[in-house]
Order: sequence, then C-alpha cells, then structure tokens
Amino acid sequence: EKAGFKHFMLKEIFEQPQAITNTVSGRVNPETGEVSLAEINLSAQECRNIDRIFLVACGTSWHAALVAKYWIERHAKIPVEVDIASEFRYRHLLIDERVLTITISQSGETADTLAGMRIARKMGSKAITICNVVGSTMTREADGTVYTHAGPEIGVASTKAFTSQLAALFLFTIFLGRHRGTIDLAKQQELAQALIGIPAIIEHHLPKIQEQVGALIEGYYDCRDFLFVGRGLSYPIALEGALKLKEISYIHAEGYASGELKHGPIALIDKEMPIVAMVPQDKVYHKTISNIEEIKARQGRLILIGSEGDSHLLTITDDVVWLPKIHEDMNPILYTIPAQLLAYEIATRRGCDVDQPRNLAKSVTVE
Ligand code: M6R
Repeated sequence: EKAGFKHFMLKEIFEQPQAITNTVSGRVNPETGEVSLAEINLSAQECRNIDRIFLVACGTSWHAALVAKYWIERHAKIPVEVDIASEFRYRHLLIDERVLTITISQSGETADTLAGMRIARKMGSKAITICNVVGSTMTREADGTVYTHAGPEIGVASTKAFTSQLAALFLFTIFLGRHRGTIDLAKQQELAQALIGIPAIIEHHLPKIQEQVGALIEGYYDCRDFLFVGRGLSYPIALEGALKLKEISYIHAEGYASGELKHGPIALIDKEMPIVAMVPQDKVYHKTISNIEEIKARQGRLILIGSEGDSHLLTITDDVVWLPKIHEDMNPILYTIPAQLLAYEIATRRGCDVDQPRNLAKSVTVE
C-alpha cells in the first residue's frame, strides 16, 4: 500500500501534485479564472460585509493560515488575524457577526480548533472550515466547508494535506477578492493560472529536488540544532521546515522570520550551526540576502533554497537547492517540498521511524 515507496511520508510527498490538482480541479474556470466553491455557503454579499477574518488552526495547519494571511490581505484587502487554536479559545476575543472565522484542519477533529470554532459561532461569527475529512466533526458543525481533496494522509507528519490546504486557501483568496472587487478579471486570471500550473511544476522538479537534498544531508544529518529562516511568504515555510525536522528526526530546530535574527537568535550562530534559508527572488529578496550575509559573517553553515540562475547564491555557499522561478504567490507551495524532503532524508539517515514518530498522534482530539 506504500506503492513502492519506503514510507507513507515519502509516498505522500510525491502525491502532492495529484492532491493539489484534485483540490483545484472543477473549482476554477481555466479561461476566466472564476472560482466556485460549492459547499462554502458564503454569498457575494456576505463576502463584501466581512470586515475581519480570523484564521484558527494548530501545528502545520497553523502554518497554512500564516501563508493565507499574506495572500488574503494582499488580494482581498481584509485584515486577517491568525491564531493558534489553543490560544484563541482562551483569549478575550473581539468577535461579532462581521467577522468570518476560518478553521483549518486536516482531520477536522482537533480538539482546540473545534472548540475555537464553537466559540466564534456563539459570538455571532460565521464559521468556515478548510478540511480534508468528509463528515468530520468540524465539517458537520461549520456553516460552510472548503474540502481539500488530498486523500487519506497516513504519515503523522503532514505533507500533502498542507500543500492542499494552501491550494484551497489560494482558491478562497481569489473567490473573496473577486466578490469584493479587489481583483480585476486580469488579476483573477493571472492568479488562477498560477495555481493551476503549480502541480505540473512540482511533478517535474520533485525527483531533482530529492536528489539535491539527498546529496546535501551527509554533512548535516548529525547536527544537534537547526535554524530555518524566511521572509514574507517564506516565513511560514521556515516554521514548517523546522516543525517537520523536529517532528520526525528529533533534531532541535527553530524557524524565524529572517529580520528577527538580529533580535536574539543570531547569538546562536557559530560554525557548528546549520541555517536553512529560503531565498526566492521575490519582493523581499534583497532584504533576505542582507540577513544571510550577516549569518555568513558569523560563519554559520548555510543551506540556501533559491531560484535557478541566481548565481549570487553561490558566492555565499555551495549548498544550494535550486528551484524554478515561478509566480511569487506560489512560492510557499513549491518551497515546502525541499523542506519536507530535508526532514525526511535526515530522519531516515538517522534511522528514525518517520511515519510513526515518538510521542505524536495523527489527530489530537484531547486538549
Ligand atoms: O488535523 P489538524 O490539521 O487539525 O492537525 C493539526 C496538527 O496537529 C498537525 O498539523 C500536526 O502539527 C502535524 N503532525 C504536523 O506535521
């Protein structure tokens, strides 16, 4: 049932092009870019009436929420707050019927996320859930659902469910932007095309990415700590890379926004410390590069994940994972792939049970 793969996790990493395709197809008109989300139960009028969005989730799903904040604020121009569900449910919430609450959950059963949804609904907010499991508690209680069609995810470490959540959240961004009139037809087409194109790009590059990552890990698999850094849309992916590594290899890892390094974590950097930096050629590229130069000046061991043809990266380190240059909004989906594979390759090199890491359950149904 692992279809020739050594682990479910690797199988699920390779299933991502299909999972994203299944999540997107039938929901977007390839000519006009128009998005329809059958079970969302949110009218155009409601889209216009919302004045704030809360995104609520745990773990990897929370990282998807962090990416969506950038997308929604940029394209649909609504303020978005992102909350870890276990914090959301116990803080003093300022919610009324103009707030839309979106929970993101692969399983649809996570106790804290479910509790967050119930609280928000009680306060008058409409609640939508982005979920992978048909008929799960969250989909039954929510006012509307956007299903991810990732298929069953067996590995405890979430992979294809995450990138499918990103695809669903990007569909939602286009949907919302169009109904609110914050994106025009040309923009809608551009964004939809970018999303429709991403599975083929991943499919084409996956073997090469695995090869590049595999060639790197011998020098890194026995390190004790890792830092992951990124800016803008790459910041949540740095968090996700660090979580994946912790979860399955038991190496201590932290993710930071690149600009935060100088506010403390830079003190950790010496010639023993590996730092994985995401450096797509996006709006914040030059800022990220200057943060990386600071790491280099302190002799940190850098692994860069960047764009093909960016020869400047080779003046910083030899350890570069090259990815194609694509539509900026799709970078979080693409840059997740090497982060997942880095964790996978290191964990298996260390002999860890990647599908069943210690102390973890697939679905956290207690508080
Ligand atoms: O089912 P959910 O998406 O609500 O689960 C949330 C987290 O428990 C989950 O993403 C967890 O962090 C994963 N093991 C990460 O790989």
